[in-house]
Amino acid sequence: MKIAFLGAGQVGAPIARHLADAGHDVVLAESREGSASVAAALQRAPKLRAAPADEAVRGAEVVFLATPFGANESVLRPLADALAGRVLVDCTNPVGAGLSHGLKSERAGSEYVQSLVPGAKVVKAFSIYGFENFENPAYPGYALRPAMLFCGDDRDAKARVATLIGDVGFEAVDVGGLAQALHLEHMTLLWVRMVRAGGGSPNLVWGALRR
Ligand SMILES: NC(=O)c1ccc[n+]([C@@H]2O[C@H](COP(=O)([O-])OP(=O)(O)OC[C@H]3O[C@@H](n4cnc5c(N)ncnc54)[C@H](OP(=O)(O)O)[C@@H]3O)[C@@H](O)[C@H]2O)c1
Repeated sequence: MKIAFLGAGQVGAPIARHLADAGHDVVLAESREGSASVAAALQRAPKLRAAPADEAVRGAEVVFLATPFGANESVLRPLADALAGRVLVDCTNPVGAGLSHGLKSERAGSEYVQSLVPGAKVVKAFSIYGFENFENPAYPGYALRPAMLFCGDDRDAKARVATLIGDVGFEAVDVGGLAQALHLEHMTLLWVRMVRAGGGSPNLVWGALRR
């Protein structure tokens, strides 16, 4: 697939690297001249390339959003036309004071993202774990892969994202429509409270068992 990344920091860079290694055509949007994160990602993964944001998005079928939540409006508004009809994978999390939900749990961050770019097909994914698990999603010795819960309203968009989740090394677990993103964002807060605030190991993921 042709994939673009808006944001190539702790979250964007490792996911971009895994997808390029899996054979996808991955371009990093140059958010600003001299972006340290884009330069570092390119140095670490020569298969990646960079392009101006508008060009990167227009050349992509799937676009990842991995910027600070507070930057989403300024990042997305100028790209609204370019994003129309494209899949937008929202990896961002609204985090408020005291590790609370940044939108007071009144609506999901992904619903807010969708409101900024009404023509895009927003899918929330790659959001529920710390970046360490995007760097290295392997949990050797288990029959299960780590579960990556994802949600969105467009069936075709979700099918594409499910493929990409698998290509990075997770089991894709579809949890429903975009309204479910609020609950994924609370799962993130649970993980962050356990690990970042509670002193737990970041090498912690959820597994999906079924019978
Ligand atoms: N860190 C985690 O463990 C984790 C896990 C899951 C989800 N998330 C979510 O993922 C998102 C990214 O987190 P991160 O840890 O990857 O952040 P990060 O390491 O700080 O990277 C942020 C990226 O966004 C770019 N950026 C920042 N401000 C921008 C702006 N105004 N316009 C355009 N680009 C801008 C940065 O580019 P420059 O280098 O040029 O500044 C960088 O490439 C956040 O919403 C976070 O909540 C984080």
